[in-house]
Amino acid sequence: MSLVSHLNQKLSDTACLNCRTPVTLSPSPGMLTCPACNHTYPVFDQIPLLLQDPEASLAAAHSQHQALIDSNEKWLENVRDASRRQPERELLGQAIRAYESNNVYLKRLQTSVERHLGIQKIDELKEEDRLPKQYDLEEGIVFSHRDWCWSPGAEAEIAKIANTIRDVVTDFADDVDRVLVPGAGAGRFACELATTYDSCLAFDYCVYMAQIFYDIVAQDVTLYKVNLRSNVAKTEDVVVEDTLSLDAPGDDRIRAALEQGRLSYFITNALDLPFPGNALSAIACVYFIDIVPLKTHLNEIRRTLKPGGLFINIGPLRYMRGDTANMLSGEEILDLFRNSGFDILADGTVTNTQLTSSPVITSVLSHNFMFVARKR
Ligand SMILES: C[S@@+](CC[C@H](N)C(=O)[O-])C[C@H]1O[C@@H](n2cnc3c(N)ncnc32)[C@H](O)[C@@H]1O
Repeated sequence: MSLVSHLNQKLSDTACLNCRTPVTLSPSPGMLTCPACNHTYPVFDQIPLLLQDPEASLAAAHSQHQALIDSNEKWLENVRDASRRQPERELLGQAIRAYESNNVYLKRLQTSVERHLGIQKIDELKEEDRLPKQYDLEEGIVFSHRDWCWSPGAEAEIAKIANTIRDVVTDFADDVDRVLVPGAGAGRFACELATTYDSCLAFDYCVYMAQIFYDIVAQDVTLYKVNLRSNVAKTEDVVVEDTLSLDAPGDDRIRAALEQGRLSYFITNALDLPFPGNALSAIACVYFIDIVPLKTHLNEIRRTLKPGGLFINIGPLRYMRGDTANMLSGEEILDLFRNSGFDILADGTVTNTQLTSSPVITSVLSHNFMFVARKR
């Protein structure tokens, strides 16, 4: 049995997004079916797509793959031109091979979507302008480097956040078994929590995030980072080959948790969760609440948490995009939770060098907003 097929074993006690009935979706090849209304959800390359409009999300992933392939192509043109003028710089040859290799990988992800949906359907959806807004793949891929390269800087960042979550759960609850991880990205925090809690339910809205995570579960993935513009001192740090592995060398901690079926990772929207009311004992958001319209997400948090359930947040409030009306200060967020049926149990900051990359001289010190709320 492959490791990927151990995922989603505990994806039960869901609710159908079509008829809203609490059900366990029943698996059949290539799909999940609601036993109450027979609505079907596609399973794409083993990834369940629990969405109202899964085809539009697949087409959006295809667009994101293309955008990053195009951006790499632009860099390739620049680097090839520089290399023609400076043929003695072997470094530029390495950068060319790095961009080419990344694009082979991205093209493979894109081809998977084409095989599933068909290029004609993808083009139709793009023309109809029906593609949901997606987190940018170029920004998203940074999380794979942080999460799965096992560099000391990244590990310090991950340990601080994961340990803070575990500590507050120990302080404020004694019956946490089912933990939801919204906007799980490249999946590392979800995997960490799966080593501690029986059932960790991780999800992201972007299909490409799940594609990369599922690939890493299946086997090591090699991606390159080209730091031509990133302020590095050593020549050997300009083109970096990253091997993304599920566990640190010589370890099998995360593999063991996955083999026990403790992790689910699926695609869904934080604003429309496929769970019935009062279903979850904890929700842990990392680097997420400044990405979604929080008031709408909070409706889903309040609906799906059990009374007494914990909501834990750690992340910046940087609001890079979206409606200004959603750009709340930390104090406003605490008041919003209090006025929505929660007690605030703790709040503070967790400071780290956000998304640190060891060869890069510059790093940002991020004072992440942390709070714990309990549903009354
Ligand atoms: C800043 S990243 C953080 C990733 C992860 N939490 C971490 O810290 O490693 C935010 C993630 O939220 C996802 N996302 C954005 N909107 C979402 C939504 N409505 N529902 C679920 N995930 C969403 C993005 O695709 C992206 O992977």
